[in-house]
Amino acid sequence: MKITFANPSLPAQGIVVVTATDGGKLSKSAEALDAKLSGALSRAAKAGKFTGKAGETVDLMAPDAKYERVVMIGLGKAADLKDLSLQEAGGRIYAALAGQGASATVVLDAVEGADMTASDMGANLGFGALLRSYRFDKYLTKEPKEKKPVLKGIKVMCPTSAKARTAFADMEKVAEGVFFTRDLVSEPSNVLYPATLAKEAQALKKLGVKVTVLGEKEMKKLGMGALLGVGQGSARESKMVIMEWTGVAKSKSAKAQQPVAFVGKGVTFDTGGISIKPAGGMEDMKWDMGGSGVVIGLMKALAGRKAKVNAVGVVGLVENMPDGNAQRPGDIVKSMSGQTIEVLNTDAEGRLVLADALWYTQTKYKPKFVVDLATLTGAIIVALGNERAGMYANDDTLAEQISDAGDAVDELVWRMPLGKAYDELINCDAADMQNIGGRWGGSITAAQFLQRFIKDGTPWVHLDIAGTTWSKKAKPVTPKGGTGYGVRLLDRVVADHYESK
Ligand code: BES
Ligand code: MN
Ligand code: ZN
Repeated sequence: MKITFANPSLPAQGIVVVTATDGGKLSKSAEALDAKLSGALSRAAKAGKFTGKAGETVDLMAPDAKYERVVMIGLGKAADLKDLSLQEAGGRIYAALAGQGASATVVLDAVEGADMTASDMGANLGFGALLRSYRFDKYLTKEPKEKKPVLKGIKVMCPTSAKARTAFADMEKVAEGVFFTRDLVSEPSNVLYPATLAKEAQALKKLGVKVTVLGEKEMKKLGMGALLGVGQGSARESKMVIMEWTGVAKSKSAKAQQPVAFVGKGVTFDTGGISIKPAGGMEDMKWDMGGSGVVIGLMKALAGRKAKVNAVGVVGLVENMPDGNAQRPGDIVKSMSGQTIEVLNTDAEGRLVLADALWYTQTKYKPKFVVDLATLTGAIIVALGNERAGMYANDDTLAEQISDAGDAVDELVWRMPLGKAYDELINCDAADMQNIGGRWGGSITAAQFLQRFIKDGTPWVHLDIAGTTWSKKAKPVTPKGGTGYGVRLLDRVVADHYESK
């Protein structure tokens, strides 16, 4: 979908969206349009008990011979307007209009008493509409035409529209990252497996990202026995992809060059291995590469908007299958860090993949911080549902930055505990540790396992995104399906705290 910007002038025809604020106060443009329609808009608002709250709409089909459709949306209280409320308004507008005309015009006026400029309002509205317009329909060969969205463009009219256009340019790049993540997460595992996922990541070269792919031979040389053990029961070769974005000038200090690092779990399908999962719902495990999808989409967003940061993304890509060569419960593997692991449950595989990916990232790049993302445990869904990701941290500053960014972009996290007593649950008689900690606190013991692969002095956050990677219902800026959760969150963290001026 194409979002364009123009200065306000009331369209004389077509599909037009105007706004009102709390108390049912019509914007200037809404008033002008109402006058043109001989009061039809305000009458309909009254009849529909429209009060201008966020989420409320007045919807007039063909109110006269010229206008195909006129919609008035509530923006809520002027003083409460923020990026998110405009994004949500944009998302709702897209959802309401997707099925009708090819293009629509939204007319925004500056709102008295708001903290936001009209151009920021316009850019955010466009961003929300764009994010909502995502659809994964490439495998629908027989979808009836009436079900396909037809809306191809939204023209956002707002004062100082040139500024809105500039602000939107970066948002569009972030949306492209989010869409890439959603695409990857939505692909079935017969199409997307380690080699093809690595190939997808290589597309980032076009944006100036350096992409390196390691195969099993290289990983064996590096001693990545934990990751390789997970993939050994699959006919598909395991891979590791390293993406480097250099956005800091070479002339800056060594400190300024130090990269930030993102690490993702990329299990392209998780059968559970020999500790095989029950059949019901196993199809969800196609999106067990969600963490890697976020890292790849995030690198696309950062490179796309030419972020002034050095960033490295590392994803461990494996398929967890139970063939004759598969890892058995009780096997002991040696990780790249030298630590040995008794694999008591082959379905606790994500942590094994991350152990080597995290170690590799720290030894090779000595990053400012590492954030890892993984659809790691069902236990985090039990704890937090689908509303928040579980966050584990060894560093309060980084944790707070991520928590605040989550609030700002509506990709929420909830901090969970780490501690010695939890750590002891993965002690083991046969090896340095075991890969499960028993029935209780399953997301926490998984995080403790990861922490054993974090070097002293590396600020680290682990996000367990098992509950937020996929959504069975649509939200204002997120259609159902793959959410892309994490891309906007971490892009925001980088933008707010880690870009050189
Ligand atoms: N990929 C799963 C976790 C998962 C579950 C993600 C549901 C998304 C939705 C992970 O590899 C797994 O199987 N974890 C086990 C760990 C257990 C064996 C300790 C789990 O959560 O049951
Ligand atoms: Mn598993
Ligand atoms: Zn898994």
